[in-house]
Amino acid sequence: SVTSAFDFAPNLFPLSSTAQGYTALGAPSNPALDPSNALHGGSLEKNKSLSYLNGLSLVVGLIIGSGIFSSPSQVNKNAGSPGASLIVWVVAGVLAWTGAASYAELGGAIPLNGGAQVYLSKIFGEWAGFLFTWCAVVVLKPGSAAIIAIIFGEYLVHAIIGAEAVDASTWLTKGVALVGLVLVTLLNCASTKLGTRSADVFMFLKFVALLGVTAIGIVVAVTGLSYKGEANTDWKNRGWFEDTNTNVSNWAVALYAGLWAFDGWDNVNYVTAEFKNPARDLPRVIHTSLPLVILCYILANISYFLVLPTSVIESTNTVAVAFGSQVFGPVGSLILALFVAGSCFGALNATTFTSGRLVYAAGKEGYLPGIFANIGLGKSHKAIRLHTINAGTSKSKIPRKCVDWFADADAGFFFTPISAMMLNAALTAVYILIGSFNTLVTFYGVAGYTFYFQTVLGLIILRVREPDLERPYKTWITTPIIFCCVSLFLLSRAVFAEPVQTLLVVAFMVVGLVIWFAWVGRRRGKEKQGVRQSPSEKVGWKLWKIWSS
Ligand code: ARG
Repeated sequence: SVTSAFDFAPNLFPLSSTAQGYTALGAPSNPALDPSNALHGGSLEKNKSLSYLNGLSLVVGLIIGSGIFSSPSQVNKNAGSPGASLIVWVVAGVLAWTGAASYAELGGAIPLNGGAQVYLSKIFGEWAGFLFTWCAVVVLKPGSAAIIAIIFGEYLVHAIIGAEAVDASTWLTKGVALVGLVLVTLLNCASTKLGTRSADVFMFLKFVALLGVTAIGIVVAVTGLSYKGEANTDWKNRGWFEDTNTNVSNWAVALYAGLWAFDGWDNVNYVTAEFKNPARDLPRVIHTSLPLVILCYILANISYFLVLPTSVIESTNTVAVAFGSQVFGPVGSLILALFVAGSCFGALNATTFTSGRLVYAAGKEGYLPGIFANIGLGKSHKAIRLHTINAGTSKSKIPRKCVDWFADADAGFFFTPISAMMLNAALTAVYILIGSFNTLVTFYGVAGYTFYFQTVLGLIILRVREPDLERPYKTWITTPIIFCCVSLFLLSRAVFAEPVQTLLVVAFMVVGLVIWFAWVGRRRGKEKQGVRQSPSEKVGWKLWKIWSS
């Protein structure tokens, strides 16, 4: 029985490639290399356990995180007025919703675990799936972890030392963010259970924080009571659309911040193969969870506006603290800060767990050096990797228990994909050090929406190319079209609004493509055809081997 969103995370395995005739990555040359064989005993069927409610809590739990407690300032600053901000929140929510509905169609038509990586490989070719995995490993996963860690740091510093400390030193915040990252990484390296067990607590924290903000805001608005004496009257005196920004690029930046808070809507597609009845439940999950989250976020934002002057909202990434102190004074801000820090820590924990598996899977697939497919520490780690590769072929004497960490999450202490998690932690640390919430959110948004766009465009292509493909769920064709148009607008404006971040994303993608066409893809093609390698390729192959062993 499944108890929390986090319990599904072990199934977040992006490289499965068997079900109903689809071989997303081409048939693995060695059946034992197929991750689903190695780790699920060859059968995904036995994991068909998700119900509608499981899916609902999974999506809602993944979406609500740091964003609703940190994005409002960036949204407000760039939209200019409260009314415009609310519009941005609605647009961001609806965009996420159309994206999720499109993904639901893809999930039904291509019923495999793995999400975008699988769809892109199937529709555009394996290079696209590789590029997605590459960007997920170097940008999306560590980028999102860095954002969450920074918000964790800001809230914690706020709670313990006070607002002045946050303003005075970004390094203090970054330091705390790094400490949080190290803790979470250690936790996840040590044991899978330790990590997953704590998830429920954190989930609870964020629901309390979000519902608390909404409820308090309504009470304050109705009664006019608050710790600081006079209630905020900004919203009464100032027009809701006064000072609305007319610069389109600013709206794009505001949207990126809003989209961050809604991000995670694609995650249910990582586990579509685990649904008991995906055709029925996947769309139902999407069409209830997204409206629910949109409603919660709108209410929370209205609460912020009712309680706080807009100038305050605009000036802080820790809006929930300002909110708490306005209503309940120092105790209120402390309590809210702790709740939000807890919520962020939980989100960081979850994302670290899944990143580890993503990097591990990429290592196993040959997308990354094999070292990242090692499990555990010391001498045993390579042996265990080989064992997982040979699983089922009885070449290894290592007890099966040690490999099944993935399947039953109980392989014992330090039998986790440690090197994969180290890579993720190192990249995350770099982003924490060089980035800030505002810069990282745009950076992450540009990279993320490039792939969301490509994937949803793929849906349209698939409709044209394979009209007869069985689609248990079909969205209106307007849904993916709206999604593609808005994300294209977003991506095109990013170049003007945030040129540096955009260029960085483009650079990462170019590097990914070069790696694929010069190296991984060619090797893969050769493997499949059994063609002999030329001497120069042999050298590259050798270097790769040395690097990867
Ligand atoms: N929406 C989440 C938040 O507000 C962020 C989700 C991060 N992305 C992800 N794919 N897990 O913190």
